[in-house]
Amino acid sequence: MRVVSGIQPTGNLHLGNYLGAIRQWVDMQHQAESLFFLADLHALTVAIDPKELASNTVEMAATLLACGIDPTKAILFNQARVPAHAELCWLLQGTARMGWLNRMTQWKDKAGKNREGASVGLFTYPVLQAADVLLYQATHVPVGDDQKQHLELARDIATKFNQDFGVELFTLPDPFISAAAPRIMSLRDGTAKMSKSDPSEASRIALVDSDDAIAQKLRKAKSDAGELPATAAELADRPEARNLVTIYAALAGTGVDAVLTEFAGKGFGTFKPALADLAIGVLAPIRERIVNLLDDRTAVAKVLEDGADRARTLAAPTLLAAQQAMGL
Ligand code: ADP
Ligand code: NA
Repeated sequence: MRVVSGIQPTGNLHLGNYLGAIRQWVDMQHQAESLFFLADLHALTVAIDPKELASNTVEMAATLLACGIDPTKAILFNQARVPAHAELCWLLQGTARMGWLNRMTQWKDKAGKNREGASVGLFTYPVLQAADVLLYQATHVPVGDDQKQHLELARDIATKFNQDFGVELFTLPDPFISAAAPRIMSLRDGTAKMSKSDPSEASRIALVDSDDAIAQKLRKAKSDAGELPATAAELADRPEARNLVTIYAALAGTGVDAVLTEFAGKGFGTFKPALADLAIGVLAPIRERIVNLLDDRTAVAKVLEDGADRARTLAAPTLLAAQQAMGL
């Protein structure tokens, strides 16, 4: 089993990113050969500030290390340092069809009405994603709902390439759906995803928030006047309450039912401080490790360089085989 997954090096990582993505990576590195990359090439599909991209890349690497990614277990690198990603992407552009990319809902959503003004990269983004995983013969790719269509596309591209050139080169990657990955909602609106793009900072807990900020945001989080019920089913039409219980369960590493067993009949005046204590207990050590790691940015950059060395070695035979299959 070989897992490949990437995340864009944007700043401002939050609790949703941690519980919904990063923590699954930390678990996965113990179960499978794992390659995790910072998708700095993907970041180029929208307007970027070069200085910010460079510092976000190092900060994101520090964050992943602080959350528990172990570079002796997983290969951690940034995409730009492994040129084979861009090279294979170009080779696969001859295989991917315009019609396939036109059907991608993320392209439609992100380009909106301004297709003429969107970058070409925004359109071909899923081809680079296909290259990212096919390059390493990934057997499994962790995907949320929003990425399932892109993984299907990667499989279609791999299938067509193998057929067109009469080779059995690319492994078809399967989705890896982690049962433990919760979807965390905004603290201000229980029906919107917790997101870095939400203009309200009170809507999310950043991984670098102080203990006081964490406690204050949770104290002010939208909830309701009711008591916590005994069963998860009774939270169905109480999105804000359900979100806070989901966060508690995820941080505690238990299920919603176990949390309700503990808190049934209690109100949010009791629950929120307990949640704040729990959140601070998990997040404060991560924050401290991020700060310590960023004291020596060169050392963090070195971890990425080492990872890129290993990734280049793994990528080389597949890129060469693809070139040979195409007569290059
Ligand atoms: P954002 O929505 O803040 O822009 P990204 O789209 O950059 O976050 O997502 C990075 C990773 O974090 C993805 O794997 C995504 O599925 C996960 N993620 C983002 N927001 C949440 C959330 N609110 N709950 C669970 N997982 C999330
Ligand atoms: Na996003």
